[in-house]
Amino acid sequence: MFKGWRMKRKVERRRRDFARKVDGLEKAYPTIDWKPFRDITGFFADRSLSSVEEQAFLYRLAAAAPADAQVIEIGSWLGQGTCTLAAPLRGNAARCYAVDAFACWSDTPGENAHYRRLLDQVSPGRSQLQIFEAHVARFGLEKRIQVVQGDSRQAAGRLPLKPASADLVFIDGGHDLETVRLDVANYLPFLKPGGVAAFHDFSSTCGVPEALWEAIRAGTFADLLGIHGSLIAFRKA
Ligand SMILES: C[S@@+](CC[C@H](N)C(=O)[O-])C[C@H]1O[C@@H](n2cnc3c(N)ncnc32)[C@H](O)[C@@H]1O
Repeated sequence: MFKGWRMKRKVERRRRDFARKVDGLEKAYPTIDWKPFRDITGFFADRSLSSVEEQAFLYRLAAAAPADAQVIEIGSWLGQGTCTLAAPLRGNAARCYAVDAFACWSDTPGENAHYRRLLDQVSPGRSQLQIFEAHVARFGLEKRIQVVQGDSRQAAGRLPLKPASADLVFIDGGHDLETVRLDVANYLPFLKPGGVAAFHDFSSTCGVPEALWEAIRAGTFADLLGIHGSLIAFRKA
């Protein structure tokens, strides 16, 4: 009973903290509609792989994209990032492409077992893709989000986009050096000059920092747009 009471207090504290943070965002960025963000981030609170600050940055990047923007997310897991990117887009032609193996799968050692455990906690008996689709439907984003299922190394060839036509690319799939290198090589060419490239886990010990550093040295980016937690975004040169 004592344990249950402590858990309830913890959940209430987390809710209050979240509400306070979103109030702050509404004050800081009054031109953005934060209602969908509040709904999505509140819903995913107990199954999130990123912080509220990181999600808010992603949401702001998508909100700043032009009407009918084309967005690509590599690594969609259960759809939190996908919904966060898709919700603030404007225009009937706006799309967010969700590239993922949807098989609790990764080349990064240890990640497979980690994803399988997380999935069992969220909803035992249902597949990653079933849960992803249910989340997308919950927020009414079925028309705006398009699944591109498969290994990101091959899936790039199946994206219905021309080179230099996308407005925002978010790289958050496999985190080992080789996979991030390939995701950079295969997906950044889809970005328009001036489009936005965002990376999660750039400050961790995985392959992201090194792959990113290689891209920076190669002159891929024109500007640094911001850093929030372990999420970093650049404007493409
Ligand atoms: C960190 S999670 C993505 C989190 C998500 N962006 C979010 O904001 O909630 C990484 C996802 O990428 C997938 N993944 C890892 N390596 C991949 C690859 N090479 N091709 C396709 N998907 C991959 C994993 O199975 C997992 O679903």
